[in-house]
Amino acid sequence: HVSMLGRNFLTLRDFSPFEIQQILWTAADLKTRIKGTRELYRPLVGKRAALILQKRSTRTRLSTETGINLLGGKSYFLSPDDIHLGVNETIKDSARVLSGFVDLILARMYKHEDVESLAAESSVPIVNALSELYHPLQILADMQTLQDHFGNLRGLTVAWVGDGNNIIHSYMMAAPKLGFNLKIASPKGYETCPNVTKDAEKLAKQYGTQIFHTTDPREACEDADVLVTDRRIKNSTRPEEEKLECLKAFQGYQVSHRLGKVAAKDWVFLHCGPRKQDEVDDAVFYSERSLVWREAENRKWTVMAVVLLLLEDHICTTPKPDY
Ligand code: CP
Ligand code: NVA
Repeated sequence: HVSMLGRNFLTLRDFSPFEIQQILWTAADLKTRIKGTRELYRPLVGKRAALILQKRSTRTRLSTETGINLLGGKSYFLSPDDIHLGVNETIKDSARVLSGFVDLILARMYKHEDVESLAAESSVPIVNALSELYHPLQILADMQTLQDHFGNLRGLTVAWVGDGNNIIHSYMMAAPKLGFNLKIASPKGYETCPNVTKDAEKLAKQYGTQIFHTTDPREACEDADVLVTDRRIKNSTRPEEEKLECLKAFQGYQVSHRLGKVAAKDWVFLHCGPRKQDEVDDAVFYSERSLVWREAENRKWTVMAVVLLLLEDHICTTPKPDY
């Protein structure tokens, strides 16, 4: 058992394999106890969290609000129209003010530096609820989903077919530490961030896993156990004006059963959502291979685990899954 009390949760880069496993185990423990056996477990009574979302959100907002509520705590949703943050007041000043009202802040901001500024100035833990660089909460949910499905993450190969964005960056920080391999297909000009790529390579070397890059989706999907994709057009980093250019660049990048033919026999599909047709066709998205609904629900158990571990000590009472 390791304590994560008072820490910030900005990127999985800052967390050891043991700590990530501890978060995942906590998420599994909460799911079994609260959903499975309907235990009333309220360790967050009296705790308050601010949820600042500078961008639209369904999953992150609802998973956080319902999750904190289930644990007995209270959350305060703040849209950009509600508070001064970065508009009439600097992030630095807002962070100090908010620290006097709440015990933890979850923030979805455009720039990763802005989440870092919040963390630097706030005296309470900051949780990254998506920045242009990372989306660590999403990757925890993906890990819980794959762990439940396969029973173990070690040795799996995950193929990414898409933009070199915040989601794959978070996969790159997690995969080496949890012992699975990544095969990343992104078109030229849409590659993963060079600094993240360099860090991920170091981690892969340290933990003995593979991270492979290509521009060919088929090559990435070959023998892969999991096919993952995400928004390419009009996402939080690519404006509407780039739509036509993106559509062209991502030709051949739609996940389909045809693409899946080269994957491992029992391949499954993940997508953080919200999903558009050009990313994955209906036949895959609504198929048995698609774990997207469980993935979305697991956003709740995983964010609950993160918030809980940053605010309180938690001892799991269910057996540790095989990590
Ligand atoms: N996956 C995800 O973060 O979705 P929302 O934008 O709905 O929060
Ligand atoms: N990569 C997407 C994820 C949305 C949850 C974005 O940043 O918009």
